[in-house]
Amino acid sequence: MSWWSHAVFYQLYPRSFRDSNGDGVGDLDGITERLDYLSALGVNALWLNPVMVSPMADHGYDVADPRDIDPLFGDLTALDRLLAAAHARDIRVTMDLVPNHVSSAHPWFLEALADPSRRDRFIFRDGVGDAPPNNWVSVFGGPAWTRVPDGQWYLHLFDSAQPDLNWEHPEVFSDVEKTLRFWLDRGVDGFRIDVAHGMAKPPGLPDMSLADNELLRNAEDDPRFDNESVHEIHRFIRQVLDDYPESVAVGEVWVHGNERFAKYLRPDELHLGFNFRLVQADFDIADVRAAIDNSLAAAELAAAVPTWTLSNHDVEREVTRYGGGAQGLARARAMALVMLALPGVAFVYNGEELGLPQVELPDEVLQDPVWERSGRTERGRDGCRVPLPWSGHTPPFGFSTNPHTWLPLPADWADSTVQHQLADPGSTLTLFRQAIQLRSARPEFAGGVAWLGDGVFRREGGLVCVLNTGDTAMALPPGAVLLTSGPLTDGLLPPDSAAWLV
Ligand code: GLC
Repeated sequence: MSWWSHAVFYQLYPRSFRDSNGDGVGDLDGITERLDYLSALGVNALWLNPVMVSPMADHGYDVADPRDIDPLFGDLTALDRLLAAAHARDIRVTMDLVPNHVSSAHPWFLEALADPSRRDRFIFRDGVGDAPPNNWVSVFGGPAWTRVPDGQWYLHLFDSAQPDLNWEHPEVFSDVEKTLRFWLDRGVDGFRIDVAHGMAKPPGLPDMSLADNELLRNAEDDPRFDNESVHEIHRFIRQVLDDYPESVAVGEVWVHGNERFAKYLRPDELHLGFNFRLVQADFDIADVRAAIDNSLAAAELAAAVPTWTLSNHDVEREVTRYGGGAQGLARARAMALVMLALPGVAFVYNGEELGLPQVELPDEVLQDPVWERSGRTERGRDGCRVPLPWSGHTPPFGFSTNPHTWLPLPADWADSTVQHQLADPGSTLTLFRQAIQLRSARPEFAGGVAWLGDGVFRREGGLVCVLNTGDTAMALPPGAVLLTSGPLTDGLLPPDSAAWLV
């Protein structure tokens, strides 16, 4: 069995985890300093959002040099320190790889702007009169094409500072191979592949339907994504990774339908694919059960390991999704027990273990390109990216020595700090520590899932997980209670909570 097949991954948004040098932005040494915290949490692997050289138009997802660290986060030696310290604690380290696009400050793009004969590594086209080559819109809002002074247009599925690469060009392949080997040779254990359903574009770039083009989503049969030749790219990436037998690739795969999802997980493609059904499920047992069954079925189609995610740097934090306040928090804690009871790989997004809510930020601090590109109608994703509170009673709560952090921390987070929660046996942090510890130590967390009732499933190994999304207390099935997400009342499981039994 591979190390990752039952792993808990901890997703770090490096800007927001911990600032070691007082510039108000988190960095690699900040992560290294807090590895004992992650080790005590019990996670097996880290996923770092992009730390490569970038003008930060999309906070690192616009990469100008894919084989160096941005000075904001440190340098290559800081990464080496992190790798050594993490490996010494038996924690693997994976990084984001952004193969769909680069930064408009990447040397290839600067060359393309200066010399029209050097544009073939991107997707440049002539327009139709004064209109862009087709009607595609950017995932962040606005047109997916930007015109350059000589009249041609280039494609960017995201921000105009993120030109899409042309994956029909051999140099694009060879450069990504160079990047993969560069980090793997340094000791990185694998990659999270950004927009793994992107990259390949359909011949002729046909128009898309504009009926269903919600921001940050793609519709069924959306010509911008999930084109057949993307699988050649994944086979290529896999071949490189196979030279490093312990390495893993997990793809961000936003596609429709289990069959299409499973194709990315064929034995010669990705090892793992993010399945986002739990993120999309309401706190309702029918929805949660459908999400679980679907995710299991999707993985099974490809004989792959299932994955589970409740939140990440692109979606509203679950405490808020589930209604906010004490109820939202109770529900998020219950769902954490559900996620950690399931077979396969679980991803915990930094701050999830502290039960942090989405933050309502004032207009003037918003940084996500979605805000401007949507004509200030969509606030974007900054609210789930606010720095972590570590200690003390006032912002920035030990995140930084600098009071001017890249996003402000809310003044009422004193009870959410790591320091505060470590001292509280009922805290969300304590719950995550206990749950992850039990999940890795107990033999009952083995084998498949069978539903015993609507809110009750059992792992083959014997663990029973009960979730109460209703509004009356539920009787627990027979067995010894291992952990609950909140206190039982008279032996019953109250609404908005979950329990583990063996
Ligand atoms: C992915 C990332 C997101 C980023 C986008 C463009 O969806 O998760 O944060 O903005 O790709 O790279």
